[in-house]
Amino acid sequence: MSRRISILGATGSVGTATLDLVSRAETGSFELVALTAHSNVAALAGLARRYRPEIAVIGDGAFADELKEALAGTGIETAAGPEALIDAAARPVDYTMAAIVGSAGLRPAAAALQNGSILALANKECLVCAGDYFMDLAQQRGARILPVDSEHNAIFQAIYPGHDKHIRRIILTASGGPFRDWPVEKMKGVSRADALAHPVWSMGDKISIDSATLMNKGLEVIEACRLFGLPSEQVDIVVHRQSVIHGLVEYIDGSVLAQLGSPDMRIPIASTLAWPERMETPAQPLDLAALSRLDFEAPDETRFPALRIARDALLAGEGATAGLNAANEVAVGAFLADQIGFLDIPGLVADCLEAMDRNAMLPKRFSGIEDALEVDRLARDIVARRMSGIPA
Ligand SMILES: NC(=O)c1ccc[n+]([C@@H]2O[C@H](COP(=O)([O-])OP(=O)(O)OC[C@H]3O[C@@H](n4cnc5c(N)ncnc54)[C@H](OP(=O)(O)O)[C@@H]3O)[C@@H](O)[C@H]2O)c1
Repeated sequence: MSRRISILGATGSVGTATLDLVSRAETGSFELVALTAHSNVAALAGLARRYRPEIAVIGDGAFADELKEALAGTGIETAAGPEALIDAAARPVDYTMAAIVGSAGLRPAAAALQNGSILALANKECLVCAGDYFMDLAQQRGARILPVDSEHNAIFQAIYPGHDKHIRRIILTASGGPFRDWPVEKMKGVSRADALAHPVWSMGDKISIDSATLMNKGLEVIEACRLFGLPSEQVDIVVHRQSVIHGLVEYIDGSVLAQLGSPDMRIPIASTLAWPERMETPAQPLDLAALSRLDFEAPDETRFPALRIARDALLAGEGATAGLNAANEVAVGAFLADQIGFLDIPGLVADCLEAMDRNAMLPKRFSGIEDALEVDRLARDIVARRMSGIPA
C-alpha cells in the first residue's frame, strides 16, 4: 500500500537521505505530498522535478517567483513564506519527516502533528523547546512521534514493548566530535573547516558544529528525557568513537539492550519510513570482525562545558531549554560566519541563560508553542546584543 509522505527540510542532509530511500523503494511505495526548503530554490526545484510532489514550498517568501518559474509547466503547485510552510505541513499524509533545522521547524512540525499521523522527528528542537506541548499534542491527536536522531531511534528500538516501566537508565553514545582528543589550548584556534570535519557522520552545518562542542549531545539528553519521560539522572552519555552502538537501554534486572548499525542516517530514517515494518537500505552491513574492537569513555565536561550547561537547563525547565537552544543557534551562526571563536559558543549560551534567569524570563513550563517562541525571540535578542558589545 502506498504511503503518502511530506518532507519538511527536503533539501538538507536528512531530507535528501530520506528521498534517497524513497527513490530506492519499490515503485508505488511512497506518494510525495509536500517538499519544503528555506531558500535553496535550485535544489528544491530539482527534487520536485524528480519526485513529483503535489506541492513544493520555499520558506523565504522572497523566492516565490523564482520557484514558480523553476517549476512552470510541471503541474506541481508552488507556494512561499512561513505560513505556506505551515499549510503544506498540515496537508493530510500518513507520514511527515520533520527535518527543518532549528526552532524554525516548530510550527510546521506542530501543524503536521495535528494530522494524527506519523511524525518522524529529526528536528530535536521541537522537544528541546516545547517538549510537553509536542508530547501532549501527539497524544491528543493520536499521532505517533518516531525519533530520527540515531541515538533516540536506537533506544526506541531497544525498548521492549511494555517494558518501559522497568528501565533503570538509557545511554546515548557520542562519537566525541572532531576535537575529542584536543587540549583546550588547541581548541581556541579551531576554524570553521576544522569544526565542520566530523570524524564519523556527514551532516548539515549546524548539527556538525553542535557535535564538535558536544552541545548536540546536551540537546539530545533533553530530547531523550522528554521523549521517553525520564529524569536527567536516568539518561547517561558515553563517548564511543566508532559510532556503531547508537543507544542502550539498561533494565532493572541488569539486562542491557543495544541497537547497532553502520553510522549511516539512512538506517534510522528507514526504520521510521517503514515503521512498524522494515525496509532495505544501501547502508554498509556491519562487519564486526573487521571492526575488532569498540571503545567507550566518559565525556569530558571540563573541555566540553556545553554538556553541563544543557543538563542545568533541563533541570531549570522549559524556558531554560528553549533559551539554550535559541542562544546556541545564534552563537553557532556567528561562529559559522567567522564572527566569534569556537570556545565563545558555550560561553555566550551560558551568559544568555544567566541574564534571562536574572530577569525572570525563563518559565518552568510553557502553556503553548507561542510561549516557547517568545523565549526563543528574547534569547536571540540577548545574544545578538552581547555580541555587539551591548550588555544583555
Ligand atoms: N544531519 C543529520 O545527520 C542529523 C542527524 C540527527 C538529527 N538531525 C536533525 O535534523 C534536523 C535537520 O538537520 P540537517 O543536518 O538535515 O540540516 P541541513 O542539512 O542544514 O538542512 C536543513 C533543512 O532545513 C531547511 N531550513 C533551514 N532553515 C529554515 C527555515 N528558517 N525555515 C524553513 N526551512 C529551513 C533547509 O532549507 P535550505 O536548503 O533552503 O536552506 C534544509 O532543507 C536538525 O534539527 C538536526 O539537529 C540531523
